[in-house]
Amino acid sequence: MTEIKACLFDLDGVLVDTAKYHYIAWKELADRLGFEFTEKDNERLKGVSRAASLNILLEIGGLNLDDAEKAKLAESKNNRYVEYISAMDSSEILPGALAFLEDCRSQGIKIALGSASKNAMTILNNTGLTPYFDAIIDGTKTSAAKPDPEVFLLGAEALGIPPVNCVVFEDAEAGIEAASRAGMASVGIGSPETLGAAALVVPSLLEMSVARLKEAFTAV
Ligand code: BG6
Ligand code: MG
Repeated sequence: MTEIKACLFDLDGVLVDTAKYHYIAWKELADRLGFEFTEKDNERLKGVSRAASLNILLEIGGLNLDDAEKAKLAESKNNRYVEYISAMDSSEILPGALAFLEDCRSQGIKIALGSASKNAMTILNNTGLTPYFDAIIDGTKTSAAKPDPEVFLLGAEALGIPPVNCVVFEDAEAGIEAASRAGMASVGIGSPETLGAAALVVPSLLEMSVARLKEAFTAV
């Protein structure tokens, strides 16, 4: 790969520990609807839009509902989720994230957000992360959900950096596929079992530095 000029970050599960709140809020809904929803099931919802997540949840529960009922359920899940994220602060930034963002800044690497969430601004503002970003693309600015590459292509365009010079950081399979379809390299944050399609997988951003990134991706 050529020179790395930009890092594009997913939000939930990469920079902040919100994946647990999504899970709790979906699980509360499944409990109310009367079926079991496990953490393993929840893996399928990571990186997926709210509406698509609800469809997967209902499929797991074997329920077939009309659009009006689905809209109500999605709203009720989101209301619970918003209660959780409204109480967030900087202590819920994931280990290594701040140091790596600082490292990118100091080395002149541009930083963008590429998140499916329509709640991204609430989370960025509550945790104090907003000022780190040169561009923010979230679920309010996209029309197609990951694995569609739109969110990352819009991010690269907003930064003015060609996709080939971008690296995506993702904790979801759908996000790794979106990066690849955008023509970008990716780093999986989590387990190689689910993120094996990424060029590099690390357990957290604690393992990441600009030096390591360049070593892993820049052709010699
Ligand atoms: C993604 C999460 O970042 O955002 C998904 O990984 C979530 O689990 C999606 O469904 C949409 O989030 P929101 O906040 O708009 O419901
Ligand atoms: Mg994520």
